[in-house]
Amino acid sequence: MKAAVFRAINEPLSIEEVDVSRPMAREVLVRTAASGVCHSDLHFVEGLWPFPPPAVLGHEAAGIVEEVGEMVTDFKPGDHVISCLSVFCGHCNDCLRGRPNLCRNPETRRGPSDPPRLSQQGEPINQFANVSSFAERMLLHENAIVKIREDMPLECAALIGCGVLTGVGAALNTAKVEPGSSVAVFGAGGVGLAAIQGAYIAGARQIIAVDISESKLAQARELGATHIVDASSGDPVPVIVDMTGGGVDYSFEAIGLPATVQQAFNCLNTGGTATIIGMVPVGQTVELEARMLLSERRLQGSIMGSNRFRVDMPRYVDLYLQGRLKLDEMITRKGRLEDVNDAFRAMKAGEVARTVLMFD
Ligand code: CU
Repeated sequence: MKAAVFRAINEPLSIEEVDVSRPMAREVLVRTAASGVCHSDLHFVEGLWPFPPPAVLGHEAAGIVEEVGEMVTDFKPGDHVISCLSVFCGHCNDCLRGRPNLCRNPETRRGPSDPPRLSQQGEPINQFANVSSFAERMLLHENAIVKIREDMPLECAALIGCGVLTGVGAALNTAKVEPGSSVAVFGAGGVGLAAIQGAYIAGARQIIAVDISESKLAQARELGATHIVDASSGDPVPVIVDMTGGGVDYSFEAIGLPATVQQAFNCLNTGGTATIIGMVPVGQTVELEARMLLSERRLQGSIMGSNRFRVDMPRYVDLYLQGRLKLDEMITRKGRLEDVNDAFRAMKAGEVARTVLMFD
């Protein structure tokens, strides 16, 4: 099959022939229909987060089941599915206390004595995030996919696989935004726009989008932001505090920079909660004035929208089909696998919320 291979940091991905193994036991082979290009893929290409090459990146995808392992009972060829990097074992402490997005049990991967899922002339190619969706096929543990309605367009379903799950889930699951509350979202890229939509779905009264790009702020308005703050013209914190008469109840950081993490915390009202979604590069730290915590402000992290994706994703599909979750608007561009490097360039240039790569 054709795949985009990550060979070295800061090198373009190269389109190569890669071998995909046959599904063992609880594995499912999925024909990729669409894969989003997410900012975190770029973090790994740029080496801001480490991942060993050679590898096939990509982790936001939807497709159609082609073949299942002999122990798989919940999926059959022809099923439409969304993949998710939050693969869960189902029986560890994290899974059993209702937090399967934190599962780290390695049993959902292949063991060291098994043949690799991906390879080239017998040499293993690393599978990224247990998904590797920049490829014509994905070989996944069955607990890394969820079945969805067949009337759901697969390019929109792909976005739910990471960015939408992460942003909407941060608002609904991690922060549990209350109806009538005030919200600020730092960063109006794919995940930030999803957090804005999550806040809107939750019934927030005031949703303030903060970004430095005029076009992204305009899009944020279309997707539910009631106010916008252009941070290119100065510190957004006093503007937000003024707008809300004291600060927001909930803030979200969807960029991954220490400075915006600090702003997200500093714009909280007393009792407010800042939720950090962005992937701040490894080793960087943030500084807070500790006194601010005394009036019950909180700072918390969110990974993959605190998802239970088998429950969340079909809900988001329904919300999309009812017109309450906007996904077409988030797809700025469609391309082919060969366009993956240009998708990274466009993302860095701030031209796109999402490029979606389409497969045959
Ligand atoms: Cu992602």
